[in-house]
Amino acid sequence: MIREMSVDDIDMVLEIEEDSFVDAWNYDHFVYEIQFNPFSFLWVIENEEKEIVGFADLWIMFERAEIANIAIRKDQQNKGYGFELMQHIEKLAVEEGCETISLEVRVSNKNAISLYEKCGFAIINTKKNYYYWKGVSEDGHFMMKGI
Ligand SMILES: CC(C)(COP(=O)(O)OP(=O)(O)OC[C@H]1O[C@@H](n2cnc3c(N)ncnc32)[C@H](O)[C@@H]1OP(=O)(O)O)[C@@H](O)C(=O)NCCC(=O)NCCS
Repeated sequence: MIREMSVDDIDMVLEIEEDSFVDAWNYDHFVYEIQFNPFSFLWVIENEEKEIVGFADLWIMFERAEIANIAIRKDQQNKGYGFELMQHIEKLAVEEGCETISLEVRVSNKNAISLYEKCGFAIINTKKNYYYWKGVSEDGHFMMKGI
């Protein structure tokens, strides 16, 4: 089941976030996204036991939608949850009148790139050293889908 993320969910979401990204968002960042960012829509996805197994954050800026964050708990990956969240994201973006959805992804993140390609996204260009964390940089693909 997919439902809106609330502040009460952040502790669980943070566990997934910190396990997924070296440059993980912190508690305050999620509070900002939920309570103060007027452009953001956040959801969690739960399994049958009602445990949070993933989340997504979509920014809707007029005719453009941007996936700011998406992650699935490591032990729950490859079960279709990421694809389900992507379908949900696209549905909302269409309902909100968006014309495109875009995102950035590390060039090494083959699983995510494969998910996005399965969802109809194409690599538009590659941003040199787009990611930088503690002295290590990596290029990022800019991917987009017309909807
Ligand atoms: C990317 C991510 C969200 C995918 O979520 P998921 O729930 O595992 O994905 P799904 O089970 O819905 O799989 C959908 C598609 O993604 C791709 N994919 C997912 N896991 C994969 C893997 N281990 N190997 C290859 N392709 C994979 C495949 O195209 C798959 O379609 P298929 O099953 O028909 O082959 C998940 O791997 C994740 O959270 N990664 C860490 C965080 C992250 O990188 N987020 C994206 C930042 S840009």
